Amino acid sequence: MLWVKAFHIIFMVSWFAGLFYLPRLFVYHAMTDDEAGSERFKIMERKLYRFITPFMIISVILGIWLMIEWQLFNTIWMNIKLVLVGFLIAYHFYCGHLVKVFANDESRHNHIWYRWFNEFPVLILTAIVILVVVRPF
Ligand code: HEM
Repeated sequence: MLWVKAFHIIFMVSWFAGLFYLPRLFVYHAMTDDEAGSERFKIMERKLYRFITPFMIISVILGIWLMIEWQLFNTIWMNIKLVLVGFLIAYHFYCGHLVKVFANDESRHNHIWYRWFNEFPVLILTAIVILVVVRPF
């Protein structure tokens, strides 16, 4: 159903907005050395992570709905996409872990590490959009 696809895309975009912004907060948090600034980042990170987790769940449910409805289990592009989505979900939960690490003032990485970490969802997004639109396999 095209309505399902529309909402799959809407929730996926909302999820990605958070997956781009949350590691960006980590970058600036890692550069902060004052107490008040650090406490403010902790609140922003915790709230943002909680806010985007339902977007991940809904976009995955709607994607599975489409996959079942359109019988796409056996296509190569769909299977590669599922693997990439698996990496993205792992990245999401790792961000949740980092939120806790920052909350306990235990981050050991510098802002440059978080800048590179921030690029991962860009690669996944590029690969998935090419897979679903171009369907090269
Ligand atoms: C388990 C998770 C997911 C499943 C099972 C899934 C499955 C699907 C299916 C079956 C379609 C319809 C394809 C068609 O038009 O025939 C679709 C569309 C789409 N998906 Fe997903 N998806 C998932 C997650 C994602 C994620 C994380 C992204 C973004 C990176 C994404 C991006 C898209 C886009 C852009 C379309 C529209 C493609 C088009 O209109 O041609 N999906 N998805």
